[in-house]
Amino acid sequence: MNEHGHLEVGGCDAVKLAREFGTPAYVYAEDDIRSRAQNYLDAFAARTESFEVVYASKAAPIGAIFSLVSELGLSTDVASAGELHAALRAGTSPERIYLHGNNKTKADLRLATESSVGHIVCDSFDEIERLDAMLDRPQEVMIRVTPGIKANTHSFIQTGQLDSKFGFGLEDGLAARGIEAIRASSNLSLAGLHAHIGSQIFELEPYVKTIEALGRLADDAGLSQDELRLLNVGGGLGIAYEPGDEPPSIEDYVDLKVKGVERVFDPAPRILVEPGRSLVGNAGITLYEVGTVKEIPGVRTYVAVDGGMSDNLRPMLYDARYDALVANRAGDAPDTRVTIAGMHCESSDIIVSDVEMAAPRVGDVLATPATGAYGHAMANNYNGMPRPPVIFAKDGEARVVVRRETLDDLVARDV
Ligand code: LLP
Repeated sequence: MNEHGHLEVGGCDAVKLAREFGTPAYVYAEDDIRSRAQNYLDAFAARTESFEVVYASKAAPIGAIFSLVSELGLSTDVASAGELHAALRAGTSPERIYLHGNNKTKADLRLATESSVGHIVCDSFDEIERLDAMLDRPQEVMIRVTPGIKANTHSFIQTGQLDSKFGFGLEDGLAARGIEAIRASSNLSLAGLHAHIGSQIFELEPYVKTIEALGRLADDAGLSQDELRLLNVGGGLGIAYEPGDEPPSIEDYVDLKVKGVERVFDPAPRILVEPGRSLVGNAGITLYEVGTVKEIPGVRTYVAVDGGMSDNLRPMLYDARYDALVANRAGDAPDTRVTIAGMHCESSDIIVSDVEMAAPRVGDVLATPATGAYGHAMANNYNGMPRPPVIFAKDGEARVVVRRETLDDLVARDV
């Protein structure tokens, strides 16, 4: 908060940002991303020489973030030709890219092979066949294993359980058969194992079990040292969305993974992690303007803002909870319970229900913290909403890194 009682982000007055760039807008404190990335790098460097921090770009596939993480020395994971294109355009080195996806199309695989991405993480027998057939040179791959471990998070973002569309299961023997299929292929060479058990995870124990499960697979399949150069134990570290949320620290998360891998594997392969949310989630906020306040006596007060499920789908998809504050009166005590609604034609378009805040008034700038991950990434044009810009703030300077969509953009594809 600055001397005017306004919320400040990256040294910039949030109210001025709203005036200058309009609302809704995603604003990132650029240095916050940098320091979290550095936190991962330092935590690893203090424990091992052989590691790689891979930015899971689906959390915020933004050119400026691709560049920022590459400059710091992170690798990047992409989930489609679209994300791959964006990463390459931002200058990411192809050899530092990992391609994911449970149904990579020929077009995804073609762009990946033509641009010489370092690793493709194979997710199915069909993909192994498809990829092998389109290559006439060796390609390093990893294999995505579904370790049969259920992380304690919303079921929509669990990915490690046996009943999953992702990867090769362990219990059903598919992972071992997947390894055989890669060995039998003409062009694919196995570089290691990958497992990602889910997202927004607060408990570290499931990662230990995952590492142990991968260790058993490596033994059972008789993986050579060459076939096990890399071990990627996924992303998933949770973040604080509301006061009171206490996720493990990056340091503890890294410590547990390094110790786990060193205990289970001898020699220990290069350890990879793939964080998305924990790099960018807390760095970003969304600014809105309050347009209407509707009090239903004895029921609730709806405060409607100029965005909603088009810029943040997470509350509607995962019952995700956010906090909210009035940016132009950031110091005022929260004394009123309100529900922040969006402006979409749908009753589920509630950004935060029952939140305590300083009573919002029409014209106030409202901020929802911790929207830096999967906000912009899952934004959409429902009800003809142009998607908001992305603003980077640093040392009191702000710059647009993704411009706001225009009304003409919305009809640009109509033929
Ligand atoms: N690696 C793989 C293979 C993944 O599938 C994911 C996320 C990550 C890494 C990064 O996970 P993170 O560190 O961000 O938890 N849209 C949902 C999240 C979906 C996550 C999908 N995979 C949400 O808004 O909560």
